[in-house]
Amino acid sequence: MIRGVPLLEDLGDLEGKNVLVRVDFNVPMAKTADGDRVVADDFRIRAALPTLAWLRDHGAQVTACTHLGRPKGKPDPAFDLGPVRDRLEELLPGTKLLENLRFSPGEEGNDPEFVLELIEGQDAYVNDAFGVSHRAHASVVGPPKYLPSAAGRLMAREVEVLLGLLDAPARPFAVIVGGAKVKDKLGVLKSLAARADTVLVGGGMAFTFLQALGHSIGASLVDPTHLEACAELLRSPGNLMLPVDSKALAPGRKLSIESQSDDEEPSVTGDGPAVEVFGLDIPEGWRGVDIGPNTIERFAEVIAAAGTVLWNGPMGVFEDERFASGTKAIAEAMALCSGTTVVGGGDSVSALAQLGLEDKISHVSTGGGASLELLEFGDLPGLQALREAPNARPESREDS
Ligand code: 3PG
Ligand code: MG
Repeated sequence: MIRGVPLLEDLGDLEGKNVLVRVDFNVPMAKTADGDRVVADDFRIRAALPTLAWLRDHGAQVTACTHLGRPKGKPDPAFDLGPVRDRLEELLPGTKLLENLRFSPGEEGNDPEFVLELIEGQDAYVNDAFGVSHRAHASVVGPPKYLPSAAGRLMAREVEVLLGLLDAPARPFAVIVGGAKVKDKLGVLKSLAARADTVLVGGGMAFTFLQALGHSIGASLVDPTHLEACAELLRSPGNLMLPVDSKALAPGRKLSIESQSDDEEPSVTGDGPAVEVFGLDIPEGWRGVDIGPNTIERFAEVIAAAGTVLWNGPMGVFEDERFASGTKAIAEAMALCSGTTVVGGGDSVSALAQLGLEDKISHVSTGGGASLELLEFGDLPGLQALREAPNARPESREDS
């Protein structure tokens, strides 16, 4: 057991038993030239294979279930699991995968009737869906009320590594947080600022902090409703490090991802350079879209010296080649760091993958929101549910 949560071994003899496995196969999709939907990145599928294979090797009949996207409680061909099922069939032939759970309103509504439908004919339940275990949805929290249950291998490893960061990280412990939305990261920033030696902040969210300090941020992204929360965080003991320079886009120019059509060249209109580096203050109309070279140097130094580093969220809009250098540099610094390195969040993970650096990282998490919530609260609804399962003995709940 990990912290009172039963593991696969705690399910008893599985020979001939039916086991329902919640996985998180909410994977990025792409379209082929013929317009067919295909799995663009199978990282989350491969990550669940050890659990699925273990169950099969112990004689269980496995039925996997997952959500894909946000289809709003009704069937929608855009979120059909066909391509995911095909990929799973290639990786672990014969594994049954139910239809997209979110085609039913009962999934997100955590409807008891839907839970009963899901567990019909099942003898045991396994949660290996770390990435969605911060959601109290039917398939995540329902089955352990009725069935002997366990955390799968992926779930167990994610929890062990991430909670290990809170318990006893090798020091110095550096945290690097980016991404666009400051409101999604404030909770975890507060929790980690108390534990980490240095917290580096980059990405779109950094501009709300810079504005809170009184800097001009031009037309950069800002969340005015969270200025005060950022100011408060900046007042607490000072281990927060903000960018000292930014790479910005000229007034009126567009990011490549904002172009209207595929043939439209980004930023070809207007005079003068489209991209410039500024210090702490950005002129009116200019939009900071990546960290600048001085910031890269400072952040990379902190990462190089760290005993433990956690990274979540890109440093800029790296989909646009002109604003990819900050995120790339952080990925490279993480790969070179000799300490324990942990990366979470879809964008940071895909940046690593683009650079082929995943193998150089100690732990690449399959969770974005889930990893942040686990680090903020030290627990998740999906784990709490497993602790209440009939096979989780109360005395073992204390062994954390
Ligand atoms: C994710 O990709 O973040 C998880 O699968 C959860 O998906 P959700 O954010 O749509 O609930
Ligand atoms: Mg998400």
